[in-house]
Amino acid sequence: MAHLIGSISTSHVPAIGGALAHQKQQDPYWKPFFDAYGKAREWLARERPDVVVIVHNDHGLNFFLDKMPTFAVGAADVYRNADEGWGIPPLAAARGCVDLSWHIVETLVADEFDITTCQEALVDHSVSLPLALLWPEGKEAGEWPVEIVPVCINTVLAPYPSAARCYRMGQSLRRAIESWDDDRRVLVIASGGLSHQLDGERAGFINKSFDQQFMESLVDDPKWITRYSNEELVELTGTQGIELLMWVAARGALDDIPVKQHHAHYHVPISNTATGLLVLEPA
Ligand code: DHB
Ligand code: FE
Repeated sequence: MAHLIGSISTSHVPAIGGALAHQKQQDPYWKPFFDAYGKAREWLARERPDVVVIVHNDHGLNFFLDKMPTFAVGAADVYRNADEGWGIPPLAAARGCVDLSWHIVETLVADEFDITTCQEALVDHSVSLPLALLWPEGKEAGEWPVEIVPVCINTVLAPYPSAARCYRMGQSLRRAIESWDDDRRVLVIASGGLSHQLDGERAGFINKSFDQQFMESLVDDPKWITRYSNEELVELTGTQGIELLMWVAARGALDDIPVKQHHAHYHVPISNTATGLLVLEPA
């Protein structure tokens, strides 16, 4: 059976793609942000995942407002990145793990999640940037050392699924990974959040104390966040802060396994976003 090695939750900001393209890792603005990924990369070098289930949100590249699935699971053999309008060169395509995709699709549907299955899908900065931050050697080589299964949660067109539902979806992902008849090592990545608001009267809104409380809660009290409605979460974290739902789903995927925090980092701001990084492993 497959082995679930843990989770890495990270924020995504398109400007990271520009910083990587222009090699700004040592620039004073970027250095604290990029340095934090060193510990996650060391952990990955030790844990050597083969497959990544990446819980992320699309921002209009793959789904637009005319068609917006609440949960969508990729079942493609390749996921290309494309220009999202930021002028950043697209990163290497990711290889899909089709076998795990279909096992996840079957498990989620059996667990009564009404998902959209995507046998073709583009992926945006929410997938390409975590890969580039965690496997810079793959960025250079033009090929990532892992296969992926993208699991997309709608956080761009209300209504969104609740934190409690995303947590339960994560629990179903764990059942899928642990019952996958394969001996590969699987990592769960969450990509999104933390607090940020890109437009409107509260543009630039950041809530450091709430973000930090949320990150701490994920270690020992992972259902803490489910006390909040999505309206409350938008109020507390900004219209795009609701992307923290990815972190909730990834934590759900480790539920029932006592976890240990291997690494945590919080840095404000990168672009308009409070950025967090959290590496959890089975205790
Ligand atoms: C920014 C953050 C995001 O999550 C995103 O998808 C786009 C932009 C930002 O802070 O610039
Ligand atoms: Fe985003």
